[in-house]
Amino acid sequence: MKILDFDSRVFLAPMAGITDKPLRRLTASFGGGVMVSEMVAVNSLSRRNPKSYRIADVRDENYPVVVQLVGADPEIFARAVELISELGAHSIDINMGCPVKKIVANKSGSYLMKDLPLAAEIIKTAIRSTTLPVSVKFRTGWDHNSINAVDFARMCEDCGASYLTVHGRTRSDFYSGNADWEQIAAVKAAVNIPVIGNGDVTSPQRAGEMLEQTGVDAVMIGRAALGAPWLIAQTHAFLEQGTDPGPVPVALVKQALLTHIKGLVEYYGEKIALGLSRKYVCWYCKNFRDARRFRENYVRINNFPDAYAEINRYFDSCANQQED
Ligand SMILES: Cc1cc2nc3c(=O)[nH]c(=O)nc-3n(C[C@H](O)[C@H](O)[C@H](O)COP(=O)(O)O)c2cc1C
Repeated sequence: MKILDFDSRVFLAPMAGITDKPLRRLTASFGGGVMVSEMVAVNSLSRRNPKSYRIADVRDENYPVVVQLVGADPEIFARAVELISELGAHSIDINMGCPVKKIVANKSGSYLMKDLPLAAEIIKTAIRSTTLPVSVKFRTGWDHNSINAVDFARMCEDCGASYLTVHGRTRSDFYSGNADWEQIAAVKAAVNIPVIGNGDVTSPQRAGEMLEQTGVDAVMIGRAALGAPWLIAQTHAFLEQGTDPGPVPVALVKQALLTHIKGLVEYYGEKIALGLSRKYVCWYCKNFRDARRFRENYVRINNFPDAYAEINRYFDSCANQQED
C-alpha cells in the first residue's frame, strides 16, 4: 500500500537533536527516502517560540518533510497544526511514543498509549484543524503487561489518521532489547491504512526482512543512520532495484562528514556547530581503526581550521590503509 504520495518506502526516523535541517538535507542529497523532522512541542510552537518555529519551518527544503508534533492539549494542538500548515510541511506526524520522563509527565508522547480517549481527541482535533494528512507514531504499549498496539492502531484509524508508524518496543523498554516485529505485524494485519515498521532496521537487507516478515508498507530507520546518512538512499535502492551497496568508501564517509559540518555551521553558526560536530564525528568514525584516539583528539579541538585538518588527517590515513 502506497504511503500518501511519497516515492519511497524508507523513512528517516524523527530523532530529537539529530534529524535537523542540516542532516535532512544531507540525507536527502543521497537520493531516495522520506525525511521526518525532530519533534516540535506544540506548546512552544503555538506561542511562536522562535526556536520551535525555526525547527518547524521547512519551506526551504526541496523534498517532502513530515513535521512531527508532541503535546497533550487538543486545543493547543489545533493552534500548532494551523501554524504548521503555513510552514511548508508535507504532512504532520503526532508523537505518541516518546518515552522521556519529562514528556510523559506532561501527558504527552507514550503516556497517550495509556489514555486512548485523550489520544483520540488530539488526533481528531489535529485532523479538523488542517488540510494536511496527519499520521501517528507510537510504541507497542506502555509496558509488557499492557501491550495495546493493535487497539491503539484501530483507534488511530477510526479517528482518521492517514498512516501509522509502530516502533516495536514498549515505553518501559526505552531503546533496549529487541524490537517486537510480531506486534508490528499484528498492527499491520489489524488496520486498513498503511503502516510503517520501526525498530532494529540496521541495513538494507534488514529492511527487506522487516517488509517480508511483518507485511508493513514501509520501514523507518533511526539509530543505524547516525553517522551514515547514505543508509536511507542505499536502503531505498536495495528495496526498489535490488542493488547491494557494499561497503562505503572512506573518501565518501569523510566527504559526508565535512558536508554535514558545513551544514551545521550555516544553520547554527560556528560556536554551536563545533560542539555538535563532536557528537557526529564519533558516529562517522565508529567503524574505523584508532577511532577512539581520533575522538579524543577531536573533542579537544576548539576551532574549525584544526577540526577540518584533523578530520582530513584521520580519514585520509584510514583510506591509505584500506589501499595497502
Ligand atoms: C536520540 C534519539 C532521539 C529520538 N527522538 C525522537 C523524536 O523526536 N520523535 C520520535 O517519534 N521518536 C524519536 N526517537 C525514536 C526513533 O524515532 C525510533 O523510533 C527509535 O530509535 C527506534 O528505531 P531504530 O531501532 O531504527 O533506532 C528518537 C531516538 C533516538 C535514539
